[in-house]
Parts: sequence; structure tokens; C-alpha cells
Amino acid sequence: MAKTKSTFFCQNCGAQYAKWQGQCNSCKEWNTIAEEIIQKAEKVSWKSAESTSKRVAKPQRISEISTQAEARLNTKNNELNRVLGGGLVPGSLTLLGGEPGIGKSTLMLQIALQLPYKTLYVSGEESAQQIKMRAERIQPISENCFILTETKTQNIFRNIEEIEPDIVVIDSIQTLHTDAIESTAGSISQIRETAAELIKFAKETGTPVILIGHITKDGNIAGPKILEHMVDTVLQFEGDRNHIYRILRANKNRFGSTNELGIYEMQGSGLREVSNPSEILISKNDEELSGTAISATLEGMRPLMIEIQALVSSAVYGTPQRSATGYNAKRLNMILAVLEKRAGFKLGAKDVFLNVTGGITVDDPAMDLAVVAAVLSSNIDIAIDKRLCFAAEVGLAGEVRPVTRVEQRILEAEKLGFTSIVISKYCKIPKNNFNINIIKVAKVHDVVHHLFG
Ligand code: TYD
Ligand code: MG
Repeated sequence: MAKTKSTFFCQNCGAQYAKWQGQCNSCKEWNTIAEEIIQKAEKVSWKSAESTSKRVAKPQRISEISTQAEARLNTKNNELNRVLGGGLVPGSLTLLGGEPGIGKSTLMLQIALQLPYKTLYVSGEESAQQIKMRAERIQPISENCFILTETKTQNIFRNIEEIEPDIVVIDSIQTLHTDAIESTAGSISQIRETAAELIKFAKETGTPVILIGHITKDGNIAGPKILEHMVDTVLQFEGDRNHIYRILRANKNRFGSTNELGIYEMQGSGLREVSNPSEILISKNDEELSGTAISATLEGMRPLMIEIQALVSSAVYGTPQRSATGYNAKRLNMILAVLEKRAGFKLGAKDVFLNVTGGITVDDPAMDLAVVAAVLSSNIDIAIDKRLCFAAEVGLAGEVRPVTRVEQRILEAEKLGFTSIVISKYCKIPKNNFNINIIKVAKVHDVVHHLFG
């Protein structure tokens, strides 16, 4: 038997060391380095031994490389297709990360059941009965979907050779283990090795593989960063577990843009695609409430109208509190300072709470002006007309700055029945193209004047 060999890996970033040490030199985390046994046995390929012929790749002229085979597989799920950049690319490896319980398994099972292709769903987490029970709740049962509860990659590949699926889903990469290595499932070396085997399989057969991966407390895909480098696409499934909306983003995509985002609603019967997000993110009550303002934001290529709520009240205890949910807290402090200095509002002794409704986080500077409006509206307790929305950035001098693709935002506002939109004076837009009333402002002061007289 070959001599067993062990190395030390940082469980946080995957750095490798010859001996144990307290702190990882590369990610600076303490106490994350652990010993893992690796056996330098001959590597087992994903295929049963003799069928692996020695294929050596040859260079080809770029003009002669055929791209025909790259036709994408339609997942029958518009949100996922959009995030992937138009569907699954044959031979690609996609990693779907997310916190436990967010709905990764539900999403993938739902897609496996919808697909018109032969799909193999490999689960190391649930029993076949549990999966069937879930499947019955979310989709009509499909003849094309195969379930395998197995964690050893060699056994998985044996089954793959038999069934010859068009798509393989692995739930989850942390439960897999390979015979080539002796450390436990979920360790860095196992994840790296099993992922490498799957990549080899995907590239050699042109079968797309989707890996589900867990996420650690600090938001990294558990285990190795190296996994993110190895795969073609990294998708992140996120959302507040107490809210029904879930967002699917691409953090990395070798075959498309990372700007796109998909929105789902978690229902009793699985995940529903939300194709008109703006309508659901705006509350429907007719009552005019102070402290709310609507912002015309963009997430990727997609316009999104979101409601911002602010509550400004006198601080009861010494230091005033500032808190923001779904919006950058530092940016909120900056905006409060701008309002104090440039518009003359005394907010220094007030508690300010800000909330983006729907439990989603959007990172778009165009939200600034709506934040200003919501804060001021709550401060003086005068409601803002519900048919008015905002799209502009606020600068440190109190100037209202233009934002990207303002026309698209205006069109979305118009489509949803808003009667006016406030934008920066410096935006260049074609005249008389819109039915909506466009209000142009240059300074925060003008907005105050416009809204509250
Ligand atoms: P799951 O897909 O198991 O999460 P993950 O694989 O990311 O850990 O989803 C679990 C949650 O989803 C669970 O808390 C219940 C909820 N859920 C629904 O609300 N409706 C459904 O139809 C299903 C299947 C799950
Ligand atoms: Mg799961």
C-alpha cells in the first residue's frame, strides 16, 4: 500500500501548509488550519479505468473552432436562463451557493422536474422518499428526472454511464467524497478533488453539471475559494428567510453578464418566478403615509421600482441610532450629513431608521434621492405623493447627480402608472418622448422645495 501522506489546509481559504500553524498566512484567520490525509495513489478518472484513452489536445486555429456545439440548454425557467446568460452551456460547471434553508434544493429539484431533458439529481442530503415528497408538492412528476442518493463519486459516475443523463445536479458538493483521497467529506481536499473529477466529466462529455454548495456565516461558499475558481459560473441564491422573496445572482459567469438577477417568490408549492418585480415591491395601500418614497433603480439590465421607508424620531437615549436594512448604512450617514449641512435640517439628535421593503438589497446609487425624500418626509411628517418616484444620486455638496440609463428608469415608471419622476437636471434625455412628467432638480434644496413647498 502506498504510504499515506498528509498536508495541512486552511479550512477558510484553502491555502496549503507543510505543518500546522496557528494563523493562516494567506487569509489571516486564526485556528483554521487542519490536517488532511491525502493519498498519492494513482488518480482515478471519472470513467472506469480502461475506457480512458490517452487523448491529447491539439492546438486549433481559432477561426476553425466550431461554436455550434455551444447551443445552450433552455432550463424552462426564465429567471434562471436570464441569470445564466441564456441557458445552460453544454459541458459547463455551475455552482449554486446559498445559506441553509434558503431554497437551493427546491430550486434545483423544480428545474430538474421541468426540464425536457434527462436529468440526474444526485442528493447526499435527503432520502429518495423525502425528495419525492417534495417533488410532488412542487411540480407534476416528470419521467425524465432520475433521483440518486449517493455520495461516492465513483458510484455516481457508474450510474451516469448507465443512465447517460443530459444534465447532472449534485446536492451538495460538501457531501461528496472520492476514493482517491482519504480525508472526510466536506474537507478542502475532498471538495477540490471531487469537483475536479466532475469538471473532467463535464468537459469530456459536454454534460452541464450544477453543484449546490453551502455558504458559511460570512457569506463565502463553504470550504474553498478554489471551488469558485474551478467552476464556470457561480450563482448565489439569497434573501431574507423571513421574507418570501429570493434573489438569484451571478457572481461569476464565463458565458454571460454578472449583472443579471432573477427574482423568485417562495410559496407552499415551491418557487414562483417573479417576472414583474416592481409591482410586488411597492405596497398597495391607498393611505398616504409619511416616510415612504419610491426609487426607480436598476439591477443589472432590469428596472426595479422599490419602496424606501424611513422613520425619523427624536433620540430618547444619548447617542442617536442610525440603522439601515437593505441600504448601505455608511451611505445613510453621508446623506444625513449632507441634509444637515446643505439643506439645513437638524437631524443630529434624531434616530433614523431606513428600510428597503421586500427584504432585498439593491446597490444602486440612484436610490439616494429617494432616501433623502423618505427621510425628510418622515422628519416633517408630510406624505409624498404615491405617484411620484425618484432616480438620482446625491453628492457631498448636496448636488443631485445623474445616473446611468435614466431613460429605462423613466419608461418603467411610466409603465407602472407613475405620473412624475424626479431626476437630475444634468441628465441628457430626448425631449417630449415621455408621457410622464419629468422634474429636474440640481440640488437637494430644490427637492425639498419641490416636495414640501
Ligand atoms: P431547501 O430547498 O431545503 O433549502 P436549501 O436546500 O437551500 O437548504 O428549502 C427549505 C425551505 O424552503 C424550507 O424552510 C421550507 C421552504 N419551502 C417552502 O416554503 N415551500 C416549498 O414548496 C418547499 C419545497 C420549501
Ligand atoms: Mg438542500
